[in-house]
Order: sequence, then structure tokens, then C-alpha cells
Amino acid sequence: MVRVPRAGYERAMPPRTRRDADWPTAAAFLPEDRSLDALRDAAAGCRGCPLWEPATQTVFGRGGTSARLALVGEQPGDVEDTQGLPFVGPAGRLLVQALDEAGVDRTDVYVTNAVKHFKFTPRGKRRIHATPDAYEVAACTPWLGAELDAVRPDLVVLLGATAAKALLGPSFKVTQQRGVVMHRDGGGRVMATVHPSSVLRAEDRREEAMAGLVADLRVAAEVLAG
Ligand code: URA
Repeated sequence: MVRVPRAGYERAMPPRTRRDADWPTAAAFLPEDRSLDALRDAAAGCRGCPLWEPATQTVFGRGGTSARLALVGEQPGDVEDTQGLPFVGPAGRLLVQALDEAGVDRTDVYVTNAVKHFKFTPRGKRRIHATPDAYEVAACTPWLGAELDAVRPDLVVLLGATAAKALLGPSFKVTQQRGVVMHRDGGGRVMATVHPSSVLRAEDRREEAMAGLVADLRVAAEVLAG
């Protein structure tokens, strides 16, 4: 039986004062059967960090083990939290457009996030996205590792700093190393680029930001074609 403290969300337990020992991390919830279905079922009950409590549900990855490409975002947004699927909101729509412009075949792609619960700050009736801290990302990373072990994609594309740091370590800088294809521990290749939400936020330079994302995804298309 895993000890899960009842302490409420961040107000009761701010990241500065949380100790690793207070929470079991997702590793304690990983099932013996590492198939995607078994992982998805087990992740639904994950209490590996405090983010599960205010969220509607765990948003696990979508796709099958035949996918040659895995796309990893930061965390589900408001729409994803409600629907239970990754990248089905505005950032997802922009991602689809960028993949199409880059010529990436997205018929068989595995899509997931570094963090499986929506982290937000309530503001009136709205829920405002809050960036997961390093503790929450680390607590959730066992799910991402297990998903990638199950899918074994030829290429993992990390969308934004949170996903990149989750897989490549805290010193990884997307701004400096975006679009660079590397060998991945555990097999296949890995590459980071910006998060589609950063393109949505770019406002006056959105075209330029989109062109940058598409250029990086063209590199991904070449890797998959080669
Ligand atoms: N942003 C993400 O990083 N992931 C989603 O699933 C949606 C928005």
C-alpha cells in the first residue's frame, strides 16, 4: 500500500517545502504488465504527485505501438483535461497544421505529455495553465519512460522546454539545441523543438514562429523518411 498524503494541492504544500519522501512518484503505480493498455489503466489511478487532485482525470498518451514517431508535450490543457485526450485543444490544432506543412505523416503517431495531469490556477470560472515544476515533472516521468519503452518509436519529438528537460535533463536548452537530432538512451532518435503554444502566444511574430516550428518538423520528416 503506497502512502499518499492527503495534503491539498500547492497552497498546502508549496514545492519549496515538499520533500521527495512525501510522495511516492509515478514509479510506485507502474503495473507489472507494461502494455499501453495496462499502463493507461494504471495511470488513471496515479497519485504520484499532488496534481491528480484538482484535475478532472489523467490524460494518458494516444496512439499505438506501431507508431514510428512520438510527440511529447508539456501537460494537458483545459480542453484535454475535460476530454481525456492529449492535444485536442488549440495547441493541438496548430500542431496538426505544422505537421501537415512539414510533410510529417501523422496517420500513425503516438502523442503524449511529460506530465499527465492539468496543472492550473483557478481564476473565477476559468482555469489558467500553470507550468509544472521540476518536482512534478520528475514524479511523472516514469509514465513517459514506460510509454516510450512500449512504443519504441524511431523518433521522439519533444515539444517545448518541459518535455525536453524531462527526457534530456535540466540543462537542455531548446532555444540553443532545437532541431538537432540525437541518439536516444533506450533506442531511436530524439529531437526537441518549441511548443505549439509558444507559436499561439507569439502574436505579432506568429508567422515567423510557425515557420521555425515547421522547419524543425521538416527535420523530423527527413529522419522518418531516411
Ligand atoms: N499542451 C500540451 O503540452 N499538451 C497538450 O496535450 C495540450 C496542450
